[in-house]
Amino acid sequence: MEQVMRNFFLFLSNNKPLTKAAKKYGLRFGASRFVAGVNIDNAAEKIKKLNDKGLVVTVDHLGEFIDNEKEAKESVAECVHAIKVIADKGLKAEISLKMTSMGLDISTEFVMENMRKILEAGKRHNVTVTIDMEDYSRCEKTLSIYKTLKSEFDNVGTVVQAYLYRVEADLEDLKSCNPYLRLVKGAYKESPEVAFPDKKDVDENYKKIIEQNLLYGNYTAIATHDDSIIAYTKELEKEHRIPREQFEFQMLYGIRNELQERLVKEGYKVRVYMPYGDDWFGYNMRRLAERPANVAFVLKGIFKK
Ligand code: FDA
Repeated sequence: MEQVMRNFFLFLSNNKPLTKAAKKYGLRFGASRFVAGVNIDNAAEKIKKLNDKGLVVTVDHLGEFIDNEKEAKESVAECVHAIKVIADKGLKAEISLKMTSMGLDISTEFVMENMRKILEAGKRHNVTVTIDMEDYSRCEKTLSIYKTLKSEFDNVGTVVQAYLYRVEADLEDLKSCNPYLRLVKGAYKESPEVAFPDKKDVDENYKKIIEQNLLYGNYTAIATHDDSIIAYTKELEKEHRIPREQFEFQMLYGIRNELQERLVKEGYKVRVYMPYGDDWFGYNMRRLAERPANVAFVLKGIFKK
């Protein structure tokens, strides 16, 4: 049953008409549990509150699968604006973005031009920019663009997904460019030809790549809400004497808040991934797919509004 629900929400997350319709109506159906607000000023207030609790943030202007230059340019302008707000308000925050919202599906030249604008702004204001990893069909292109951008800018990171068979080879390939990497399990519906279909195998591979990247000596963001993975990372820290400056935990806004604060009290760096914006539909559906129990929040949201 859980698998059926998961597939259902992943199917909805890709639905363009629903995504468009959702934009018109503002945050609905419990979305405010996972999305900080519709603009960066809403998000800035929430960042400040988290910073006061010792948490740092990466802020994400929601948007994906953009297929026209006008909307992509608007997304770029929003990212540059968010960087300025972070700097002006002295917030402890970075930004994350999806390259499909910067024009990845339009042309490589166009997306590179846009990414360079954002990274220039980030460099000026000392703000790091992390490129999220989307579905498998965009993985190769995203990594190739990342490598080029990393050779020009220090303030750029990206994500690798443990469910992909290729991930170990990608880490090996990236290691010499001193990458800033966020390691995740993976959130998209992928074919068993390219990704482990079984959660147990994904979890095992996740542990493997955390160890692999930490032992390379590269900075590692372990982005998970999974207690057993967090415990495993702490074991690696002890066993290999990994300095705490070499890694951080990351979790999504609104998920396992107590755990986030507990880890800060234990002396770990914890970064909260905070989305904002009106394009919240696909993001929210993926959160529901991860945990259909969250549907209860959606139902409450429907009855509230
Ligand atoms: P898992 O799904 O096994 O969950 C472990 C436990 O965490 C659950 O038992 C539950 O207690 C809790 N939990 C997990 N999800 C929950 C939810 N939605 N609500 C409530 N509790 C929940 N993916 C991707 O493909 N590309 C990307 O760029 C990113 N970026 C990214 C950034 C950050 C900061 C995070 C934390 C995650 C991502 N992801 C991602 C998503 C990631 O791939 C994965 O889908 C989710 O993190 C869920 O996996 P967990 O590691 O939490 O484990």
